[in-house]
Amino acid sequence: MTKAQRKILVTTALPYANGSLHLGHVIEAVQADIWVRFQRLCGHACHFVSADDTHGTPVMLRAEQEGKTPEQLIAEVHRDHAADLKAFHIDFDNFHTTHAPENRDLTYDTYRRLQAAGKIKSKVIEQLYDPVRNMFLPDRFVKGQCPKCAAKDQYGDNCEVCGATYVPSELIAPYSVVSGAAPVMKPSEHYFFGLSECAPFLSDWVHGCNAVDGGPRLQAAAANKMKEWLGGGLKDWDISRDAPYFGFEIPGTVGKYFYVWLDAPIGYMASFKHFADAAGIDFDEYWAADSTTELYHFIGKDILYFHALFWPATLHAAGFRLPNAVFTHGFLTVNGQKMSKSRGTFITARQYLDHFDPEHLRYYFATKLNGNIEDIDLNYGDLASRVNSDLIGKYINIASRSFGFIGKYFDGQLGAPGAGDRQWLDKVRFGDSWDGADAPARADRVIADLYARREYSKAMREIFQLVDIANFFINQEKPWELAKLPQSRARLHEVCSTAVNMFRVLTIYLKPVLPALARNVEALLQIEALLWRDAQTDMAAGHGIGEFRRLMERVDLKEAQPPAVPAAA
Ligand code: MSP
Ligand code: ZN
Repeated sequence: MTKAQRKILVTTALPYANGSLHLGHVIEAVQADIWVRFQRLCGHACHFVSADDTHGTPVMLRAEQEGKTPEQLIAEVHRDHAADLKAFHIDFDNFHTTHAPENRDLTYDTYRRLQAAGKIKSKVIEQLYDPVRNMFLPDRFVKGQCPKCAAKDQYGDNCEVCGATYVPSELIAPYSVVSGAAPVMKPSEHYFFGLSECAPFLSDWVHGCNAVDGGPRLQAAAANKMKEWLGGGLKDWDISRDAPYFGFEIPGTVGKYFYVWLDAPIGYMASFKHFADAAGIDFDEYWAADSTTELYHFIGKDILYFHALFWPATLHAAGFRLPNAVFTHGFLTVNGQKMSKSRGTFITARQYLDHFDPEHLRYYFATKLNGNIEDIDLNYGDLASRVNSDLIGKYINIASRSFGFIGKYFDGQLGAPGAGDRQWLDKVRFGDSWDGADAPARADRVIADLYARREYSKAMREIFQLVDIANFFINQEKPWELAKLPQSRARLHEVCSTAVNMFRVLTIYLKPVLPALARNVEALLQIEALLWRDAQTDMAAGHGIGEFRRLMERVDLKEAQPPAVPAAA
Protein backbone atom coordinates (compact mmCIF):
# COMPACT_ATOMS: atom_id res chain seq x y z
CA MET A 1 0.00 0.00 0.00
CA THR A 2 1.59 3.27 -1.02
CA LYS A 3 0.11 6.55 0.07
CA ALA A 4 0.06 9.47 -2.30
CA GLN A 5 2.80 12.01 -1.86
CA ARG A 6 1.72 14.76 0.51
CA LYS A 7 2.69 18.42 0.11
CA ILE A 8 3.48 19.85 3.50
CA LEU A 9 4.78 23.17 4.82
CA VAL A 10 6.23 23.28 8.33
CA THR A 11 7.40 26.29 10.32
CA THR A 12 9.13 26.99 13.62
CA ALA A 13 8.42 30.20 15.52
CA LEU A 14 10.59 33.07 14.34
CA PRO A 15 13.23 33.81 16.99
CA TYR A 16 13.61 37.44 18.03
CA ALA A 17 16.59 39.15 16.46
CA ASN A 18 17.64 40.89 19.65
CA GLY A 19 19.76 38.11 21.14
CA SER A 20 21.46 34.75 20.74
CA LEU A 21 19.61 31.49 20.31
CA HIS A 22 19.43 29.42 23.48
CA LEU A 23 18.60 25.77 24.06
CA GLY A 24 14.88 26.58 24.34
CA HIS A 25 14.99 27.71 20.70
CA VAL A 26 17.00 24.61 19.87
CA ILE A 27 14.50 22.15 21.34
CA GLU A 28 11.75 23.65 19.19
CA ALA A 29 13.90 23.53 16.06
CA VAL A 30 14.92 19.93 16.79
CA GLN A 31 11.34 18.85 17.46
CA ALA A 32 10.21 20.28 14.12
CA ASP A 33 13.28 19.09 12.23
CA ILE A 34 12.79 15.47 13.35
CA TRP A 35 9.20 15.64 12.12
CA VAL A 36 10.18 17.18 8.79
CA ARG A 37 12.99 14.70 8.21
CA PHE A 38 10.65 11.83 9.02
CA GLN A 39 8.07 13.07 6.45
CA ARG A 40 10.79 13.47 3.84
CA LEU A 41 12.13 9.95 4.52
CA CYS A 42 8.61 8.71 3.78
CA GLY A 43 8.83 10.38 0.39
CA HIS A 44 6.58 13.38 1.05
CA ALA A 45 7.34 16.88 -0.18
CA CYS A 46 7.90 18.58 3.16
CA HIS A 47 9.07 22.19 3.05
CA PHE A 48 10.47 23.75 6.17
CA VAL A 49 10.94 27.46 6.77
CA SER A 50 11.54 29.97 9.49
CA ALA A 51 13.10 33.43 9.84
CA ASP A 52 14.36 35.96 12.31
CA ASP A 53 11.68 38.16 13.84
CA THR A 54 13.38 41.49 13.42
CA HIS A 55 10.89 44.26 14.15
CA GLY A 56 9.87 46.07 17.30
CA THR A 57 11.14 48.32 20.06
CA PRO A 58 13.73 45.97 21.65
CA VAL A 59 15.69 45.59 18.40
CA MET A 60 15.53 49.35 17.79
CA LEU A 61 16.81 50.18 21.28
CA ARG A 62 19.47 47.51 21.36
CA ALA A 63 20.89 48.66 18.01
CA GLU A 64 20.99 52.19 19.35
CA GLN A 65 22.81 51.08 22.51
CA GLU A 66 25.38 49.27 20.41
CA GLY A 67 25.82 52.25 18.13
CA LYS A 68 24.51 50.38 15.08
CA THR A 69 21.61 50.69 12.72
CA PRO A 70 18.85 48.11 13.29
CA GLU A 71 19.71 46.73 9.83
CA GLN A 72 23.32 46.11 10.91
CA LEU A 73 22.25 44.46 14.15
CA ILE A 74 19.73 42.13 12.53
CA ALA A 75 22.22 41.16 9.82
CA GLU A 76 24.77 40.13 12.47
CA VAL A 77 22.21 38.28 14.54
CA HIS A 78 20.90 36.53 11.44
CA ARG A 79 24.38 35.25 10.62
CA ASP A 80 24.76 33.81 14.12
CA HIS A 81 21.28 32.31 14.25
CA ALA A 82 21.64 30.67 10.86
CA ALA A 83 25.05 29.21 11.81
CA ASP A 84 23.73 27.82 15.11
CA LEU A 85 20.71 26.22 13.46
CA LYS A 86 22.87 24.68 10.77
CA ALA A 87 25.23 23.27 13.39
CA PHE A 88 22.27 21.49 15.00
CA HIS A 89 21.43 20.06 11.55
CA ILE A 90 18.15 21.96 11.27
CA ASP A 91 17.32 21.41 7.62
CA PHE A 92 15.41 24.57 6.70
CA ASP A 93 14.67 25.24 3.07
CA ASN A 94 14.94 28.86 4.05
CA PHE A 95 15.79 30.74 7.22
CA HIS A 96 14.68 34.20 6.23
CA THR A 97 14.20 37.55 7.90
CA THR A 98 10.99 39.50 8.45
CA HIS A 99 12.80 42.65 7.30
CA ALA A 100 12.60 41.50 3.70
CA PRO A 101 10.83 42.72 0.57
CA GLU A 102 8.64 39.58 0.40
CA ASN A 103 7.42 40.25 3.92
CA ARG A 104 6.75 43.91 3.23
CA ASP A 105 4.71 43.02 0.13
CA LEU A 106 2.76 40.25 1.87
CA THR A 107 2.12 42.41 4.93
CA TYR A 108 0.77 45.23 2.76
CA ASP A 109 -1.28 42.78 0.74
CA THR A 110 -2.73 41.24 3.90
CA TYR A 111 -3.52 44.67 5.33
CA ARG A 112 -5.32 45.70 2.14
CA ARG A 113 -7.33 42.48 2.20
CA LEU A 114 -8.28 43.13 5.84
CA GLN A 115 -9.28 46.71 4.97
CA ALA A 116 -11.36 45.48 2.03
CA ALA A 117 -13.07 43.00 4.34
CA GLY A 118 -13.96 45.85 6.71
CA LYS A 119 -11.80 44.45 9.50
CA ILE A 120 -9.64 47.51 10.20
CA LYS A 121 -10.90 50.24 12.51
CA SER A 122 -9.15 53.22 14.00
CA LYS A 123 -9.51 54.70 17.45
CA VAL A 124 -7.68 57.23 19.61
CA ILE A 125 -6.23 55.71 22.76
CA GLU A 126 -4.08 57.03 25.61
CA GLN A 127 -0.77 55.39 26.42
CA LEU A 128 2.30 56.02 28.52
CA TYR A 129 4.77 58.25 26.76
CA ASP A 130 8.40 59.03 27.53
CA PRO A 131 8.59 62.85 27.31
CA VAL A 132 12.41 62.82 27.24
CA ARG A 133 12.94 60.15 24.63
CA ASN A 134 9.77 61.22 22.77
CA MET A 135 8.35 57.76 22.34
CA PHE A 136 5.43 55.67 23.50
CA LEU A 137 6.50 52.97 25.92
CA PRO A 138 5.65 49.29 25.49
CA ASP A 139 4.61 47.66 28.83
CA ARG A 140 8.03 46.10 29.26
CA PHE A 141 9.71 49.50 29.08
CA VAL A 142 7.89 50.98 32.02
CA LYS A 143 8.84 50.06 35.57
CA GLY A 144 7.69 51.21 38.96
CA GLN A 145 6.30 50.06 42.29
CA CYS A 146 3.71 47.29 42.31
CA PRO A 147 0.24 48.76 43.02
CA LYS A 148 -0.56 45.73 45.24
CA CYS A 149 2.57 45.06 47.31
CA ALA A 150 4.66 48.16 46.59
CA ALA A 151 7.71 46.10 45.49
CA LYS A 152 10.14 48.32 43.61
CA ASP A 153 11.29 48.05 39.98
CA GLN A 154 8.43 45.91 38.71
CA TYR A 155 7.44 45.75 35.04
CA GLY A 156 4.41 47.53 33.66
CA ASP A 157 2.33 44.37 33.24
CA ASN A 158 2.99 42.15 36.28
CA CYS A 159 4.77 41.97 39.61
CA GLU A 160 7.46 39.32 39.98
CA VAL A 161 7.23 39.57 43.76
CA CYS A 162 3.51 39.09 44.46
CA GLY A 163 2.34 37.91 41.02
CA ALA A 164 -0.24 40.69 40.58
CA THR A 165 -1.15 41.68 37.03
CA TYR A 166 -2.18 45.22 36.16
CA VAL A 167 -1.85 47.89 33.47
CA PRO A 168 1.19 50.19 33.38
CA SER A 169 -0.80 53.26 34.36
CA GLU A 170 -1.51 51.63 37.76
CA LEU A 171 2.20 51.49 38.75
CA ILE A 172 3.26 53.68 41.66
CA ALA A 173 6.04 56.14 40.75
CA PRO A 174 6.45 54.78 37.22
CA TYR A 175 9.59 55.51 35.22
CA SER A 176 10.72 54.89 31.67
CA VAL A 177 13.34 52.17 31.33
CA VAL A 178 14.69 54.06 28.33
CA SER A 179 15.35 57.49 29.89
CA GLY A 180 14.37 57.18 33.55
CA ALA A 181 11.83 59.98 33.09
CA ALA A 182 8.36 59.80 34.58
CA PRO A 183 6.00 58.84 31.73
CA VAL A 184 2.96 60.91 30.87
CA MET A 185 -0.33 59.77 29.32
CA LYS A 186 -0.65 60.85 25.72
CA PRO A 187 -3.36 60.19 23.13
CA SER A 188 -2.67 58.74 19.72
CA GLU A 189 -4.65 57.22 16.88
CA HIS A 190 -4.28 53.43 16.60
CA TYR A 191 -5.45 50.85 14.08
CA PHE A 192 -7.30 47.79 15.26
CA PHE A 193 -8.09 44.43 13.74
CA GLY A 194 -11.69 43.42 14.47
CA LEU A 195 -10.85 40.30 16.44
CA SER A 196 -13.95 40.56 18.62
CA GLU A 197 -16.14 39.65 15.64
CA CYS A 198 -14.04 36.56 14.91
CA ALA A 199 -15.03 34.59 18.01
CA PRO A 200 -17.66 32.40 16.26
CA PHE A 201 -15.25 31.60 13.46
CA LEU A 202 -12.41 30.79 15.88
CA SER A 203 -14.61 28.61 18.00
CA ASP A 204 -15.60 26.59 14.91
CA TRP A 205 -12.05 26.43 13.73
CA VAL A 206 -10.60 25.13 16.95
CA HIS A 207 -13.27 22.47 17.24
CA GLY A 208 -12.73 21.27 13.71
CA CYS A 209 -10.26 18.56 12.89
CA ASN A 210 -7.12 18.57 10.88
CA ALA A 211 -8.39 17.31 7.53
CA VAL A 212 -5.41 15.09 6.83
CA ASP A 213 -5.08 12.61 9.66
CA GLY A 214 -8.26 13.54 11.50
CA GLY A 215 -6.24 14.71 14.51
CA PRO A 216 -7.21 17.86 16.41
CA ARG A 217 -6.15 21.35 15.34
CA LEU A 218 -4.77 21.97 18.83
CA GLN A 219 -3.69 19.57 21.56
CA ALA A 220 -6.19 19.14 24.40
CA ALA A 221 -4.39 21.51 26.78
CA ALA A 222 -4.11 24.18 24.08
CA ALA A 223 -7.77 23.77 23.11
CA ASN A 224 -8.71 24.31 26.76
CA LYS A 225 -6.76 27.55 26.87
CA MET A 226 -8.58 28.63 23.74
CA LYS A 227 -11.89 27.91 25.42
CA GLU A 228 -10.89 30.15 28.33
CA TRP A 229 -9.92 32.98 26.03
CA LEU A 230 -13.02 32.69 23.90
CA GLY A 231 -15.17 32.40 27.00
CA GLY A 232 -13.65 35.59 28.42
CA GLY A 233 -14.58 37.50 25.23
CA LEU A 234 -12.15 38.82 22.64
CA LYS A 235 -11.11 42.43 22.31
CA ASP A 236 -10.10 44.07 19.06
CA TRP A 237 -6.39 43.81 18.45
CA ASP A 238 -4.18 46.91 18.27
CA ILE A 239 -1.96 46.34 15.22
CA SER A 240 -0.26 49.75 15.05
CA ARG A 241 2.59 51.44 16.86
CA ASP A 242 3.84 55.01 16.72
CA ALA A 243 7.24 56.13 15.51
CA PRO A 244 10.00 55.72 16.50
CA TYR A 245 9.61 52.03 15.71
CA PHE A 246 11.63 49.57 13.65
CA GLY A 247 9.20 47.91 11.27
CA PHE A 248 6.98 48.50 8.24
CA GLU A 249 5.18 51.81 7.99
CA ILE A 250 1.43 51.45 7.56
CA PRO A 251 0.41 52.50 4.03
CA GLY A 252 -1.59 55.71 3.96
CA THR A 253 -0.30 56.92 7.34
CA VAL A 254 2.61 58.98 8.56
CA GLY A 255 4.62 57.71 11.51
CA LYS A 256 2.42 54.65 12.15
CA TYR A 257 3.99 51.22 11.96
CA PHE A 258 2.63 47.70 11.95
CA TYR A 259 3.00 46.07 15.36
CA VAL A 260 5.68 43.38 15.12
CA TRP A 261 3.17 40.59 15.84
CA LEU A 262 1.22 41.50 12.71
CA ASP A 263 4.10 41.04 10.29
CA ALA A 264 5.90 38.24 12.19
CA PRO A 265 3.61 35.32 11.27
CA ILE A 266 3.28 36.76 7.77
CA GLY A 267 7.04 36.08 7.86
CA TYR A 268 6.14 32.38 7.57
CA MET A 269 4.58 33.14 4.19
CA ALA A 270 7.42 35.46 3.20
CA SER A 271 10.12 32.93 4.01
CA PHE A 272 8.24 30.32 2.00
CA LYS A 273 7.74 32.77 -0.87
CA HIS A 274 11.45 33.49 -1.07
CA PHE A 275 12.20 29.78 -1.22
CA ALA A 276 9.29 28.91 -3.52
CA ASP A 277 10.18 31.59 -6.09
CA ALA A 278 13.73 30.29 -6.35
CA ALA A 279 12.63 26.64 -6.44
CA GLY A 280 9.86 27.12 -9.01
CA ILE A 281 7.12 26.19 -6.51
CA ASP A 282 3.72 27.85 -6.78
CA PHE A 283 3.19 30.06 -3.70
CA ASP A 284 -0.59 30.12 -4.12
CA GLU A 285 -0.81 26.35 -4.14
CA TYR A 286 0.32 26.54 -0.50
CA TRP A 287 -1.46 29.69 0.69
CA ALA A 288 -4.66 30.26 -1.31
CA ALA A 289 -7.88 29.75 0.63
CA ASP A 290 -8.65 26.52 -1.24
CA SER A 291 -5.17 25.04 -0.87
CA THR A 292 -5.06 21.25 -0.55
CA THR A 293 -1.52 21.25 0.83
CA GLU A 294 -0.84 20.94 4.55
CA LEU A 295 0.42 23.62 6.94
CA TYR A 296 1.76 23.04 10.47
CA HIS A 297 3.29 25.49 12.94
CA PHE A 298 5.58 24.36 15.75
CA ILE A 299 5.49 26.85 18.64
CA GLY A 300 6.11 27.18 22.38
CA LYS A 301 3.22 27.50 24.81
CA ASP A 302 3.93 31.20 25.51
CA ILE A 303 2.89 32.24 22.00
CA LEU A 304 -0.20 30.07 21.64
CA TYR A 305 -2.42 33.14 21.99
CA PHE A 306 -0.96 34.61 18.81
CA HIS A 307 -1.13 31.38 16.83
CA ALA A 308 -4.55 30.19 17.96
CA LEU A 309 -6.38 33.53 17.90
CA PHE A 310 -4.74 36.36 15.94
CA TRP A 311 -3.15 34.29 13.22
CA PRO A 312 -6.09 32.11 12.13
CA ALA A 313 -8.40 35.12 12.39
CA THR A 314 -6.06 37.20 10.22
CA LEU A 315 -5.66 34.44 7.63
CA HIS A 316 -9.37 33.85 7.46
CA ALA A 317 -10.33 37.51 7.22
CA ALA A 318 -7.70 38.09 4.56
CA GLY A 319 -8.84 35.11 2.51
CA PHE A 320 -5.82 32.83 2.93
CA ARG A 321 -5.73 29.17 3.91
CA LEU A 322 -5.61 28.11 7.57
CA PRO A 323 -3.11 25.87 9.37
CA ASN A 324 -4.05 22.19 9.61
CA ALA A 325 -2.70 22.16 13.14
CA VAL A 326 -0.60 24.14 15.57
CA PHE A 327 1.84 21.90 17.47
CA THR A 328 2.61 23.46 20.84
CA HIS A 329 5.45 22.33 23.10
CA GLY A 330 6.35 23.09 26.69
CA PHE A 331 9.36 24.98 27.97
CA LEU A 332 12.86 23.67 28.39
CA THR A 333 14.08 23.88 31.97
CA VAL A 334 17.66 23.24 33.11
CA ASN A 335 18.13 21.08 36.20
CA GLY A 336 14.48 21.60 36.98
CA GLN A 337 14.73 25.39 36.86
CA LYS A 338 13.58 27.99 34.42
CA MET A 339 16.38 29.02 32.07
CA SER A 340 17.61 32.19 33.63
CA LYS A 341 20.77 34.22 33.35
CA SER A 342 20.79 35.09 37.04
CA ARG A 343 20.51 31.44 38.09
CA GLY A 344 23.25 30.35 35.69
CA THR A 345 20.85 28.02 33.91
CA PHE A 346 20.78 29.96 30.65
CA ILE A 347 22.63 28.08 27.93
CA THR A 348 23.10 29.53 24.49
CA ALA A 349 23.21 27.29 21.43
CA ARG A 350 26.80 28.35 20.87
CA GLN A 351 27.91 27.53 24.42
CA TYR A 352 26.57 24.02 24.00
CA LEU A 353 28.19 23.61 20.57
CA ASP A 354 31.57 24.75 21.90
CA HIS A 355 31.64 21.74 24.23
CA PHE A 356 29.38 18.99 22.97
CA ASP A 357 28.14 17.06 19.94
CA PRO A 358 24.88 18.52 18.55
CA GLU A 359 23.55 15.03 17.82
CA HIS A 360 23.90 14.06 21.46
CA LEU A 361 21.43 16.82 22.30
CA ARG A 362 19.13 15.90 19.40
CA TYR A 363 19.02 12.34 20.69
CA TYR A 364 18.54 13.44 24.29
CA PHE A 365 15.70 15.76 23.31
CA ALA A 366 14.14 12.94 21.28
CA THR A 367 14.13 10.71 24.37
CA LYS A 368 12.18 13.42 26.22
CA LEU A 369 9.87 14.95 23.63
CA ASN A 370 6.24 13.98 23.25
CA GLY A 371 3.02 15.36 21.81
CA ASN A 372 1.95 17.29 24.89
CA ILE A 373 2.66 20.72 26.34
CA GLU A 374 4.51 19.82 29.51
CA ASP A 375 7.91 21.32 30.24
CA ILE A 376 11.02 19.29 29.48
CA ASP A 377 14.09 19.23 31.68
CA LEU A 378 17.70 19.17 30.58
CA ASN A 379 20.16 17.58 32.95
CA TYR A 380 23.71 16.94 31.78
CA GLY A 381 24.20 13.83 33.89
CA ASP A 382 21.09 12.32 32.42
CA LEU A 383 22.17 13.34 28.91
CA ALA A 384 25.60 11.73 29.39
CA SER A 385 24.17 8.47 30.67
CA ARG A 386 21.55 8.17 27.93
CA VAL A 387 24.05 8.89 25.19
CA ASN A 388 26.83 6.74 26.62
CA SER A 389 24.84 3.74 27.73
CA ASP A 390 22.07 3.64 25.11
CA LEU A 391 23.21 5.33 21.97
CA ILE A 392 26.85 4.31 22.10
CA GLY A 393 26.78 1.30 24.43
CA LYS A 394 23.87 -0.36 22.64
CA TYR A 395 23.22 0.99 19.14
CA ILE A 396 26.73 1.92 17.97
CA ASN A 397 27.99 -1.21 19.71
CA ILE A 398 26.20 -3.34 17.09
CA ALA A 399 28.42 -1.82 14.42
CA SER A 400 31.56 -1.95 16.58
CA ARG A 401 31.13 -5.68 17.08
CA SER A 402 30.47 -6.64 13.46
CA PHE A 403 31.79 -4.23 10.83
CA GLY A 404 35.47 -4.79 11.63
CA PHE A 405 35.33 -8.53 10.96
CA ILE A 406 33.81 -7.96 7.52
CA GLY A 407 36.81 -5.82 6.67
CA LYS A 408 39.36 -8.05 8.29
CA TYR A 409 38.32 -11.49 7.04
CA PHE A 410 36.03 -10.95 4.09
CA ASP A 411 37.66 -8.17 2.18
CA GLY A 412 34.83 -5.79 3.09
CA GLN A 413 32.26 -7.93 1.30
CA LEU A 414 28.96 -8.76 2.90
CA GLY A 415 27.70 -12.32 2.91
CA ALA A 416 24.14 -13.59 3.27
CA PRO A 417 22.53 -14.11 6.69
CA GLY A 418 22.23 -17.81 7.61
CA ALA A 419 18.85 -19.50 7.37
CA GLY A 420 18.22 -19.18 11.13
CA ASP A 421 19.47 -15.58 11.19
CA ARG A 422 16.71 -14.27 8.99
CA GLN A 423 14.08 -14.51 11.70
CA TRP A 424 16.36 -12.43 13.97
CA LEU A 425 16.84 -9.86 11.29
CA ASP A 426 13.06 -9.70 10.84
CA LYS A 427 12.56 -9.32 14.57
CA VAL A 428 14.84 -6.28 14.51
CA ARG A 429 13.01 -4.97 11.45
CA PHE A 430 9.41 -5.62 12.46
CA GLY A 431 9.48 -6.29 16.21
CA ASP A 432 9.60 -9.25 18.52
CA SER A 433 5.94 -10.12 18.21
CA TRP A 434 5.73 -9.82 14.45
CA ASP A 435 3.86 -12.81 13.03
CA GLY A 436 4.55 -12.32 9.35
CA ALA A 437 1.44 -10.21 8.74
CA ASP A 438 1.29 -6.78 7.19
CA ALA A 439 -0.22 -5.47 10.44
CA PRO A 440 -0.34 -2.03 12.08
CA ALA A 441 1.52 -3.47 15.08
CA ARG A 442 4.59 -4.07 12.89
CA ALA A 443 7.49 -2.12 14.43
CA ASP A 444 8.22 0.02 11.37
CA ARG A 445 4.55 1.08 11.34
CA VAL A 446 4.44 1.70 15.06
CA ILE A 447 7.59 3.82 14.98
CA ALA A 448 6.36 5.76 11.95
CA ASP A 449 3.08 6.49 13.69
CA LEU A 450 4.91 7.69 16.80
CA TYR A 451 7.11 10.05 14.78
CA ALA A 452 4.05 11.39 12.98
CA ARG A 453 2.34 12.10 16.31
CA ARG A 454 5.51 13.68 17.74
CA GLU A 455 5.74 10.96 20.36
CA TYR A 456 9.50 10.78 19.95
CA SER A 457 10.19 9.54 23.44
CA LYS A 458 7.99 6.50 22.78
CA ALA A 459 9.55 6.05 19.34
CA MET A 460 13.01 5.93 20.94
CA ARG A 461 11.80 3.29 23.40
CA GLU A 462 10.40 1.15 20.57
CA ILE A 463 13.61 1.49 18.58
CA PHE A 464 15.75 0.57 21.56
CA GLN A 465 13.73 -2.59 22.11
CA LEU A 466 14.81 -3.52 18.59
CA VAL A 467 18.38 -2.53 19.43
CA ASP A 468 18.19 -4.93 22.37
CA ILE A 469 17.11 -7.75 20.06
CA ALA A 470 20.10 -7.09 17.81
CA ASN A 471 22.43 -7.15 20.81
CA PHE A 472 20.82 -10.33 22.08
CA PHE A 473 21.57 -11.95 18.72
CA ILE A 474 25.18 -10.78 18.76
CA ASN A 475 25.73 -11.84 22.37
CA GLN A 476 24.34 -15.25 21.53
CA GLU A 477 26.44 -15.74 18.38
CA LYS A 478 29.62 -14.17 19.81
CA PRO A 479 31.41 -13.13 16.59
CA TRP A 480 34.56 -12.37 18.62
CA GLU A 481 34.72 -16.07 19.60
CA LEU A 482 33.93 -17.27 16.09
CA ALA A 483 36.78 -15.11 14.81
CA LYS A 484 39.24 -17.14 16.88
CA LEU A 485 38.27 -20.37 15.10
CA PRO A 486 39.40 -20.64 11.46
CA GLN A 487 36.83 -23.43 10.84
CA SER A 488 34.02 -20.96 11.76
CA ARG A 489 34.77 -18.41 9.05
CA ALA A 490 31.55 -19.09 7.11
CA ARG A 491 29.47 -18.71 10.25
CA LEU A 492 31.33 -15.55 11.22
CA HIS A 493 30.47 -14.13 7.81
CA GLU A 494 26.77 -14.92 8.25
CA VAL A 495 26.58 -13.50 11.76
CA CYS A 496 28.41 -10.28 10.95
CA SER A 497 26.45 -9.76 7.73
CA THR A 498 23.24 -10.19 9.70
CA ALA A 499 24.44 -7.69 12.30
CA VAL A 500 25.40 -5.15 9.61
CA ASN A 501 21.93 -5.46 8.11
CA MET A 502 20.38 -5.05 11.55
CA PHE A 503 22.44 -1.92 12.09
CA ARG A 504 21.33 -0.54 8.75
CA VAL A 505 17.64 -1.02 9.62
CA LEU A 506 18.09 0.62 13.03
CA THR A 507 19.93 3.51 11.40
CA ILE A 508 16.88 4.13 9.22
CA TYR A 509 14.65 4.26 12.28
CA LEU A 510 16.99 6.73 14.00
CA LYS A 511 17.71 8.80 10.91
CA PRO A 512 15.22 11.63 11.62
CA VAL A 513 17.00 12.18 14.95
CA LEU A 514 20.60 11.52 13.92
CA PRO A 515 20.97 12.77 10.33
CA ALA A 516 24.75 13.31 10.37
CA LEU A 517 25.42 9.94 11.92
CA ALA A 518 23.13 8.31 9.35
CA ARG A 519 25.07 10.05 6.59
CA ASN A 520 28.30 8.59 7.95
CA VAL A 521 26.74 5.15 8.13
CA GLU A 522 25.56 5.46 4.52
CA ALA A 523 29.08 6.42 3.49
CA LEU A 524 30.53 3.52 5.44
CA LEU A 525 28.06 1.09 3.93
CA GLN A 526 28.63 2.63 0.50
CA ILE A 527 24.91 3.00 -0.16
CA GLU A 528 22.52 5.71 -1.34
CA ALA A 529 20.65 7.86 1.15
CA LEU A 530 18.36 5.53 3.11
CA LEU A 531 14.58 5.99 2.95
CA TRP A 532 11.98 4.72 5.39
CA ARG A 533 10.84 1.91 3.11
CA ASP A 534 14.42 0.61 2.80
CA ALA A 535 13.99 -0.94 6.25
CA GLN A 536 12.03 -3.69 4.54
CA THR A 537 14.95 -4.85 2.43
CA ASP A 538 18.53 -6.01 3.02
CA MET A 539 21.84 -5.35 1.38
CA ALA A 540 22.81 -7.91 -1.24
CA ALA A 541 25.46 -10.51 -0.51
CA GLY A 542 28.67 -9.43 -2.22
CA HIS A 543 28.05 -5.73 -1.50
CA GLY A 544 31.28 -4.05 -0.45
CA ILE A 545 31.43 -1.82 2.62
CA GLY A 546 34.09 0.66 3.70
CA GLU A 547 36.59 0.38 6.49
CA PHE A 548 35.04 0.81 9.93
CA ARG A 549 35.78 3.98 11.83
CA ARG A 550 34.38 5.26 15.05
CA LEU A 551 30.94 6.72 14.46
CA MET A 552 30.39 8.74 17.62
CA GLU A 553 32.34 9.89 20.68
CA ARG A 554 31.15 9.39 24.25
CA VAL A 555 30.09 12.32 26.40
CA ASP A 556 32.79 13.05 28.94
CA LEU A 557 31.49 15.44 31.58
CA LYS A 558 34.91 15.62 33.23
CA GLU A 559 36.56 16.82 30.04
CA ALA A 560 33.88 19.32 29.12
CA GLN A 561 32.12 21.15 31.89
CA PRO A 562 28.46 21.88 31.25
CA PRO A 563 28.31 25.37 29.84
CA ALA A 564 26.11 28.02 31.37
CA VAL A 565 26.68 31.72 31.52
CA PRO A 566 27.42 33.35 34.85
CA ALA A 567 24.97 35.81 36.33
CA ALA A 568 24.08 38.51 33.84
CA ALA A 569 25.76 41.87 34.14
N1 MSP B 1 9.35 36.20 17.80
C1 MSP B 1 8.37 35.47 18.52
C2 MSP B 1 7.73 34.40 17.65
C3 MSP B 1 7.11 34.91 16.39
S1 MSP B 1 6.41 33.61 15.47
C4 MSP B 1 5.57 34.38 14.24
C5 MSP B 1 9.01 34.79 19.72
N2 MSP B 1 10.34 34.69 19.68
S2 MSP B 1 11.22 33.99 20.84
O1 MSP B 1 12.59 34.09 20.40
O2 MSP B 1 10.91 34.55 22.12
O3 MSP B 1 10.77 32.50 20.90
C6 MSP B 1 10.84 31.70 19.73
C7 MSP B 1 10.32 30.30 20.06
O4 MSP B 1 11.15 29.72 21.06
C8 MSP B 1 8.90 30.33 20.63
O5 MSP B 1 8.14 29.24 20.11
C9 MSP B 1 9.13 30.12 22.11
O6 MSP B 1 8.07 29.48 22.76
C10 MSP B 1 10.34 29.21 22.08
N3 MSP B 1 11.05 29.24 23.34
C11 MSP B 1 11.64 30.30 23.96
N4 MSP B 1 12.14 29.89 25.16
C12 MSP B 1 11.87 28.57 25.33
C13 MSP B 1 12.19 27.59 26.27
N5 MSP B 1 12.87 27.85 27.38
N6 MSP B 1 11.82 26.32 26.00
C14 MSP B 1 11.19 25.96 24.84
N7 MSP B 1 10.85 26.86 23.94
C15 MSP B 1 11.10 28.17 24.20
O7 MSP B 1 8.29 34.36 20.62
ZN1 ZN C 1 3.56 43.02 43.89
